Amino acid sequence: MITKAVLRPAEMANLQIQFESSPHVFKCSQVRGSLGLHGNRVNFINPYLERFRPLAERNVGLSLKCQHGFMRKSFKGNELPFHTDKFGLDVTITIQIATSDNQINPLIVHVSLEEDIEERLNNGDATVVKGREFAHSRPPVKSDWMLGLFLHYSFT
Ligand SMILES: [Fe+2]
Repeated sequence: MITKAVLRPAEMANLQIQFESSPHVFKCSQVRGSLGLHGNRVNFINPYLERFRPLAERNVGLSLKCQHGFMRKSFKGNELPFHTDKFGLDVTITIQIATSDNQINPLIVHVSLEEDIEERLNNGDATVVKGREFAHSRPPVKSDWMLGLFLHYSFT
């Protein structure tokens, strides 16, 4: 379920500037062609874990433990393959931080064999997914680029 506008424009601008200037950005293999940044390498990502834990807990109806944060910049044509998340990453909040244009680049949650949910985020919007229970994917990015913040939680 999408929660609209969870971050202020100034916070998103700051995240983008910090990502773009970080020496710890690396080529992320999960989404071929994309760039990633682990929250444990910098000081500006993981504080969002605790801030948004109540949002994640409300969505899944369970107590959660903060794990780690991550940012990814994907470029046109980059694709998140169909997958479920690794052990310990039970719940993930995806927040769209910035895009090169106003096109929607949906996250697809495969809730059953018959049903896919298309999560259509605008900048600042968040969606909470039980990423080990539900496979998810993102079709090739239509925008020139998009930047996201991912906050991982585990069941306590
Ligand atoms: Fe995932």
